[in-house]
Amino acid sequence: MNNIVLIGPMGSGKSTVGAVLARRLGRPHVDTDQFFVARHGPIREYFAVHGEEAFRAAEEQLVAELLDSPRPSVVSLGGGSVTSAATRELLKTQFVVMLDVTEAQAKARIGDAATRPVLTAGTSAPPIERWKNIYAEREPLYRECADLIVSAAEATIEDRARHIIEAMRRER
Ligand code: S3P
Repeated sequence: MNNIVLIGPMGSGKSTVGAVLARRLGRPHVDTDQFFVARHGPIREYFAVHGEEAFRAAEEQLVAELLDSPRPSVVSLGGGSVTSAATRELLKTQFVVMLDVTEAQAKARIGDAATRPVLTAGTSAPPIERWKNIYAEREPLYRECADLIVSAAEATIEDRARHIIEAMRRER
């Protein structure tokens, strides 16, 4: 069995659902944003110094390394990972789960978006405004990559984890 890979927009709960899923399945949890920070420092500072293009290149490299893990893991990807064609290609060999959210749910989760420069750099508009535009752009990519889509109606972390485990068992 391959990795379970969680994708979806910022604020969809990829990290929290990933941690619960990993615990329930007895697998390691790998959060690509956390590895990014461990290797390169805070994402906000990386964006400010190197820019988004460099961030995407470094993220693509890191995601490729982490998906190639020796043990089947639960891997939570940063929300923009699917913009890389190379990453989308790698995802074809994984069990990919999209976590969908409504705008209201995302708004509550992202708050002031202090650690998410794509939502705040160069604008004083509320972070949810940019979130909406980014989600509209990326939604087709999430859907294209996903083997399973967890609907926004399943709002709690526990509902989401349960749904994913049940769907995986049905697939076997
Ligand atoms: C980003 C999402 C973030 C992080 C970075 C860029 C994006 O991850 O990788 O700030 O472009 O959607 P989360 O989806 O975990 O917030």
